[in-house]
Amino acid sequence: METVVSGIRSTGNLHLGNYFGAVQNFLKMQHEYNCYFFIADYHSLTTHPTPSDLHNNVRRVLVEYLAAGIDPEKSTIYIQSDVPEIPELYLLMNMNAYLGELERSTSFKDKVRANPDNVNAGLLTYPVLMAADIIIHRATKVPVGKDQEQHLEMTRTFSNRFNRMYDVEYFPEAQAFNFGTELIKIPGLDGKGKMGKSEGENNAVYLGDSPEVIKKKVMKAVTDGGPTEMNQAKPDIIQNLFDIMKAVSSKDTLDHFNELYNKCEIRYGNMKKQLTEDITHFLTPIREKIEDIERNEDYLRKVVTLGQEKARESAGKTIREVREIIGFKKF
Ligand code: TYM
Repeated sequence: METVVSGIRSTGNLHLGNYFGAVQNFLKMQHEYNCYFFIADYHSLTTHPTPSDLHNNVRRVLVEYLAAGIDPEKSTIYIQSDVPEIPELYLLMNMNAYLGELERSTSFKDKVRANPDNVNAGLLTYPVLMAADIIIHRATKVPVGKDQEQHLEMTRTFSNRFNRMYDVEYFPEAQAFNFGTELIKIPGLDGKGKMGKSEGENNAVYLGDSPEVIKKKVMKAVTDGGPTEMNQAKPDIIQNLFDIMKAVSSKDTLDHFNELYNKCEIRYGNMKKQLTEDITHFLTPIREKIEDIERNEDYLRKVVTLGQEKARESAGKTIREVREIIGFKKF
């Protein structure tokens, strides 16, 4: 059975982008593959959260994974920092990751631009840690959104280089994966690119948002004066609303608004009302489960303990084999 690994950084609540880019695939994959889903808390340190946030953020992502329907009996759910074999593999993989290729990574360049005063080595080697996360279980499939494509390419570069260096066929090639065949990018509501945790207050709809908050955010979404010609191409800010609608609404609803747009009869107020209703309908059961699971400390502890045990078993095997390949020997 093929092995799947995927993770989400513990930098805040999950939003619709995380759901449709990653979690939705986890839900399907857990029935068909050997799945490892984890919370990337080491990765969150690259942007320096405070100690008081760290645990709560990890806990929140764990609760939301479970509320979204990930089954800890079927897949292995764990916290990255509970598995010391990951940082060990990260250290070893750093020996064959080159400065030039790390500096060329798009997400590194974006982070440098956004925070020129915090260009730390962890940020530079972020893709090496991510590769270690994946290859520690020798995974072949990685369910992620479009934004992670380049990181997967780098993962393949590092594993192939390791194989060549030691003349082995040890690490398989990991591929970014989406059930719908194409990797997904859910746009933000502010018309400025992808939905993200750090993109501003009204950019993202979170899985735990109340109906009032959802309504407020969607109604504020940026639109334009409307189409003036039949079948006109949509500008980005409008295409964004349609893309979100495609993820949460029925095909009929999407077709209906597309038709109104193409006939220049669309009223964005109506479209936003429909979008609010469909997002609310989609998120209500998840929000209710979040509220339920959040209170269940015993359950959370059990999930994390079981996950750590299963993850370390698989990671331990890889580390033993990698150490042998590299040539570490006991005295
Ligand atoms: P992160 O925490 O930014 O996002 C978690 C997952 O959500 C997806 N995602 C999106 N998909 C579509 N549209 C969006 N607007 C959107 N925003 C986020 C991401 O593609 C991702 O799948 N580096 C990773 C975390 C990570 C990881 C790993 C993932 C660390 N190690 C190993 C897979 C395997 C990240 O920052 O994701």
